[in-house]
Amino acid sequence: MEFSLAILPGDGIGPDVTTEAVRVLEAVGRRFGHDFDLKQGSIGGNAIDKTGTALPEETLEISQAADAVLFGAVGGPKWDDLNAKVRPEDGILGLRRTMGLFANLRPVKVEPALANSSPIKKDRLEGVDMIVVRELTGGLYFAKPKKRWRTSRGQRAVDTLRYTEQEIDRIVRVGFELAMGRRKRLTSVDKANVLETGRLWREIATRVAKDYPDVEIEHVLVDNAAMQLIIRPAHFDVIVAENTFGDILTDEASVLSGSLGMLPSASLAGLPGGASGKRSRRKVNGLYEPIHGSAPDIAGQGIANPIGTILSLAMLLRYSLSLDDEAAAVEQAVQGVLAEGYRTRDIAGDGGDVIGTQQMGSVIAGRV
Ligand code: IPM
Ligand code: MG
Repeated sequence: MEFSLAILPGDGIGPDVTTEAVRVLEAVGRRFGHDFDLKQGSIGGNAIDKTGTALPEETLEISQAADAVLFGAVGGPKWDDLNAKVRPEDGILGLRRTMGLFANLRPVKVEPALANSSPIKKDRLEGVDMIVVRELTGGLYFAKPKKRWRTSRGQRAVDTLRYTEQEIDRIVRVGFELAMGRRKRLTSVDKANVLETGRLWREIATRVAKDYPDVEIEHVLVDNAAMQLIIRPAHFDVIVAENTFGDILTDEASVLSGSLGMLPSASLAGLPGGASGKRSRRKVNGLYEPIHGSAPDIAGQGIANPIGTILSLAMLLRYSLSLDDEAAAVEQAVQGVLAEGYRTRDIAGDGGDVIGTQQMGSVIAGRV
């Protein structure tokens, strides 16, 4: 079959890791007989340098026209001026918002081969297999007012935490749908003891739960959730949280997997056909990115871990292109090379041979 993909490498290690994911994609094309038409777009800091904006019109166009988008990372010290009018992050935030990608899926698993790479005690990591559903187009990231201003008594700043019933309803449903196809446990995270948005969140989650009687729902305050993630990570199946909480909890959860460099994500405008049910062979546009950032300190050195991006590619194949076998082939290739002992620096843990970004991409592509 033929598919069109937008590839947006971005800044820092973004180009390093997306190059390897494309290498793996080409291997998938050869093995399964697919044609992937790739269009590259600029986004983030390098786009600001070239065009003055972090999300050029052309990048938005190729992203919307594609069957799916593979994204690297944005940002770096060069564009970190706190008073800058345009910021690299505007690129990815604008893309998420414009494409309506409200559901961010962040699976967290512990590869048995990597249990020693995590600073968390090994016995806690057994059976860890969760997916965090992060609301991605609302809350503090986008709601207005959002500004900084000067007063006679100094500067002030405001960000707005606002959620509508509809926004909460649709993201919580995504959590329930995913839970239906898994261990049927949903943890809804909020701060209902302090925040009005948290109380609304809990009320709506409780209401939606009535449509999913087979799923066991629990409500956990975000501070407690942060603690439970370390104390008993294997307890969690699906976690659903608002934008900022989801951002913070997933960096924390990545520690379980051994490295921030391991975690993939999918950003969707809804679940294709309900993930618990049968999926149609329909293409559903979505954006796929590793959850790590641009890591400017190691950019271009060939040492970044490309696995988060390669696993994001697997999610792309599964969710946007309905290529389940191809996705599984990529995931098995990753598991295979890890089991064989191949390690990038970040997951080397207690020794072993360390390989670079490109070698890791090549051995995974080779196994596909
Ligand atoms: C993430 C990142 C982004 C976010 C940044 C780069 C804007 O931290 O995807 O988790 O905060 O959403
Ligand atoms: Mg983050």
